[in-house]
Amino acid sequence: MPTPPWSKRSLAVQAMGAVEPVTKAVVPPIHLATTFIRDEDNAYSSGFVYGRPDNATVRQAESVLAMLEDGPEALLFASGMAAATAVFQALDPGDHVVAPRVMYWALRSWLATEAVRWGLRVDFVETDDLAGLEAAVRPGETKLVWIETPANPLWTITDIAAAAGIAHRAGARLSVDSTAASPVHTRPLALGADVVMHAATKILNGHSDAVAGALVTARQDAFWARVVTIRKGQGAILGPFEAYLLMRGLRTLHLRAAAQAKSAQGLAERLSAHPNVARVLYPGLPQHPGHDVAARQMEGGFGTMLSIQVSGGEAAAVATAARGRVNTRRGSGRLSHLRRGGRWRVSMLGDRQQPDPESLSRRSGPDCHAERFGRRQRQYGYRVAPRRYLAERAEADRITSSRFSELWSKPGGVRAGTSAAWNRAHRSILLHRAIRWRRPISNHLPRAPDSITSDCGGADGNRSLAARQRTARAPAPARDDGT
Ligand SMILES: Cc1ncc(COP(=O)(O)O)c(C=O)c1O
Repeated sequence: MPTPPWSKRSLAVQAMGAVEPVTKAVVPPIHLATTFIRDEDNAYSSGFVYGRPDNATVRQAESVLAMLEDGPEALLFASGMAAATAVFQALDPGDHVVAPRVMYWALRSWLATEAVRWGLRVDFVETDDLAGLEAAVRPGETKLVWIETPANPLWTITDIAAAAGIAHRAGARLSVDSTAASPVHTRPLALGADVVMHAATKILNGHSDAVAGALVTARQDAFWARVVTIRKGQGAILGPFEAYLLMRGLRTLHLRAAAQAKSAQGLAERLSAHPNVARVLYPGLPQHPGHDVAARQMEGGFGTMLSIQVSGGEAAAVATAARGRVNTRRGSGRLSHLRRGGRWRVSMLGDRQQPDPESLSRRSGPDCHAERFGRRQRQYGYRVAPRRYLAERAEADRITSSRFSELWSKPGGVRAGTSAAWNRAHRSILLHRAIRWRRPISNHLPRAPDSITSDCGGADGNRSLAARQRTARAPAPARDDGT
């Protein structure tokens, strides 16, 4: 393993220099085993016991993150929300928590509902107003101050060092959601924070193909031990394949973050001069209320996220988004998005609980595929390898196919052929679409080894088509719509 003076960038590119010891492969294998052989004396000298508490591929990605954030240990979770909520769940019922008024909406909503049911007392304040924050913490009672900086979706900046001072004087911990900054632009632990959290689904992974969350601690104390126990008990660990994807994404993090921050800055400056744009929210603009603090605590750029407020209110914002030529529009509950080839997204925020202007449009890094993929897994209850899913989507987009439309319109459902023309990808798309659209399929699909059912990972790969269609007929659960 390389040691200093390697730069963080080099360490990330090399994934900490991990080499598989037997073959000397420079890309470590993905460890899929869920269980491990005991030694003769019944011990586990390898340090691995079972896949729910721990996994070697996950550990490798965690070591990169710990290095990037200058912490002794990182933990990866199945999503950003799983990571964030684990921190709150490590508190005791009755503990007082201070959180921002402007923050990632799904976590805010969880705090206002589930955390309260859990027994936490939560106050939402403007954390960029340090006097207000100081007044909100209750010495001896407040156990956690949670901040997000820059905070989604107004990109509000909170002074991390000052917030840490306020929290610590009251006997509380400071936890920072640093998703929008990434460790390239801000290192909250070095500024006094106790825990840093990332929705690794976003820029850390950077390729829209893994939902993941991360926590990095400043010290391995009793509180952190509880977080470890919670992840283990709740089975919230990241899957090994997602950990591999995340580690792969981290290899290019520094290049991507710098390029995205540069284009966000350029875009913010250009949009500021646009006659139909009432306001651009980006901490890199001198007129942004948090610019001075951001300039102090961020380095190498101001992050990849910005919002615009168009003149003319919500209707104008919706129309602006709809007119995007490189973006495709996506409706998703209270958030309605545009995205451009998965690289940029514009959202009109309509959540009345959130103190955002209705005409706000938000642009962010890529995450649409990750969301769609996650949605499909949640809806149909089966696992599909993300890479397979992406290949399938690319293929689906290419096949505009009269052939498919013709098939869908046939009464009695779809008949899938097995001829050479029906190659594996076509059959796969057909099956998945039929399931998704609840179309009956007459099964002309060959079974194993070239069976289409083998497209699905895990135990599902062995399920019959009929069984999968039965699953598909079950009503899809209402989904939380949050990015
Ligand atoms: C700032 C921030 N925190 C947390 C989350 C939650 O992450 P995930 O969607 O991976 O659960 C998000 C997701 O958009 C986010 O933007």
